[in-house]
Amino acid sequence: MSKVSDMTRESWIMNTFPEWGTWLVEEIEGYEVPQGQVAMWWLGCTGIWFKTPGGANLTVDLWCGNGKRTHGNGKMAVGHQMANMCGCRNMQPNLRNVPFVIDPFAFKHVDAVLATHYHQDHMSAEWAAHVIQSGMTTTDEDGRDIPVPFIGPKKSVETWIKWGVPAERCRTVVPGDVIKIKDIEIIALDSFDRTCIVTTDSTGPDREELTGKCPTDMDEKAVNYLLKTPGGNIYHSGDSHFSIYFAKHGKDYDIDVAFGSFGENPIGMQDKMTSIDILRMAENLRCKVVCPIHWDVWSNFQADCDEIKLIYDFKKDRNEYGFHPFFWQVGGRYVYPQDKDKIYYHHRRGFEDCFEHPQNIPFRSCL
Ligand SMILES: [Fe+2]
Repeated sequence: MSKVSDMTRESWIMNTFPEWGTWLVEEIEGYEVPQGQVAMWWLGCTGIWFKTPGGANLTVDLWCGNGKRTHGNGKMAVGHQMANMCGCRNMQPNLRNVPFVIDPFAFKHVDAVLATHYHQDHMSAEWAAHVIQSGMTTTDEDGRDIPVPFIGPKKSVETWIKWGVPAERCRTVVPGDVIKIKDIEIIALDSFDRTCIVTTDSTGPDREELTGKCPTDMDEKAVNYLLKTPGGNIYHSGDSHFSIYFAKHGKDYDIDVAFGSFGENPIGMQDKMTSIDILRMAENLRCKVVCPIHWDVWSNFQADCDEIKLIYDFKKDRNEYGFHPFFWQVGGRYVYPQDKDKIYYHHRRGFEDCFEHPQNIPFRSCL
């Protein structure tokens, strides 16, 4: 037998996917968060892992899926939110643009699973399955062992229940609700995800007719979160569009770091915040750091974060911005406030131990 004769499509997939294997899982599980800090890892799209010195591990919008993998019939389902939005029928070419940096089935522990809303790129049946199947538990406010809760707006909870998550494990939240998990306080806040407003329950010819209808309640479909942690207050805006109500959240809460969904909207689309929206969100929230997310994942919505940097530099003195942007990379760790002055994330470059052992090269000045 040879390498070539043994090779199969299945062995290639198993040896290659997920691309990062358990590298990041090991890092998250092994990292000890210093006192007074909060550690965050970007999992892609709007998925973020939060970890605190008190051992709280939360996931927000952890998702393990992808986009188009075949041209199929080239059509989009009638009633898809994008079809509702602009009256298109051709399939959108949304291919996944970033590698899988986690293996959801490799994690040993999490304390809560959160979703901002129920769109497919914000929830994971794989993650729900692993959390349920492995019997993970956490502790409640009185220190008693409880099954890991699933926290989200009504529509997210309905999705989890449809997947088989026991209803008693789910906590439906609306803006104003507060849940404590170890040393993190989760506050649900209003979402401004107007794409959710034009999302119908079913697709196809029988899809709900929205024309002339007063919008359904946003609070049932999507929420934003403020996570009060020992390292600061972190604002996750899910897929919110820009809203003037960010200013109210900025007055109601001290916000250190704000995450916003940034993307280059194709012509006819109004789905992601633009560079200007991201800066306006930060200004309105009065946060200290703003970090664009979601721009990474879809090939047809990909945006260049340097556009935010360019406009930030153009406006910061005139508008007296009290914040600065932070440009992250999927799979990267951001520890706040330790990393608060960073503008660009770069993955660890390695080779820190150079010249600690003898070289093996023809002569010293060779390279
Ligand atoms: Fe999304």
